[in-house]
Amino acid sequence: MRIGIYQNHPEFGATGKNVEKAVIDISLTDADLFVLPELFNTGYQFTTMEEVHELAEQIPKGNTCRRMSALAREKGMFIVFGMAERDGDNYFNSSVLVGPEGYVGTYRKTHLFFEESDFFSPGDTGFCVFDIGGAKIGIMICFDWWFPESARALSLAGADIICHCANLVLPNCQTAMITRSLENGVFTVTANRVGTEGRSGKDPLTFTGGSQLIDNFGEIKVRMGKTETGIAVSDIDPVQARNKAITPRNDRFLDRRPEYYEILTSAIS
Ligand code: ACM
Repeated sequence: MRIGIYQNHPEFGATGKNVEKAVIDISLTDADLFVLPELFNTGYQFTTMEEVHELAEQIPKGNTCRRMSALAREKGMFIVFGMAERDGDNYFNSSVLVGPEGYVGTYRKTHLFFEESDFFSPGDTGFCVFDIGGAKIGIMICFDWWFPESARALSLAGADIICHCANLVLPNCQTAMITRSLENGVFTVTANRVGTEGRSGKDPLTFTGGSQLIDNFGEIKVRMGKTETGIAVSDIDPVQARNKAITPRNDRFLDRRPEYYEILTSAIS
């Protein structure tokens, strides 16, 4: 299975332009599954609810979804991309999966970062796994990486590949995802953006690039530069992720002792 990663530098608010650029860039590359960054169409640093209202789109009726579905159909591939979602009066930081048959599903970001909670509701979908034929894929968004439960939940639910749409500003994620891959025995694909946004006097945020694919043994298959834009591809066998053996006598999942992990599902006040 060929995986494509798109690392971009969107112009804030220029959704039509950002989407068309992605469509043109991606249409030149053959892959089975493409992963794009978080909020790839709008840019990241919202400053007012009016901006959210203006730029968020319905899923799957909005222009971004329709455009990406058409690309997926044309290229016969699956695409995961991050966008601002409007659902009635609610707004979510979401990622969408489309494929050759059109819209497949949506994941709404569970762990909101910093000022995102001024603009978006916390996600209510939970961690979803989708069977795309030949692989099961899970989706998480950026800051979800800080909570190892995200990747663990997706892996226990059967994900072979975790598609991680990101707009990373903290320095540790690319390294941490090596561990997420290793401990869960899954492929992780982090698609990040580059550039700086410091809108309306807000502290500037610099996005760290370094989009990457880590294999199920924690090896870096591909990692992009910190400032480059473009596409990276890597060929993987996702079925390898179904072997959870660590040694002939140890298994990532069978050796778990969930009876001692109850605290993980209790709220801490
Ligand atoms: C982030 O969650 N976009 C840092």
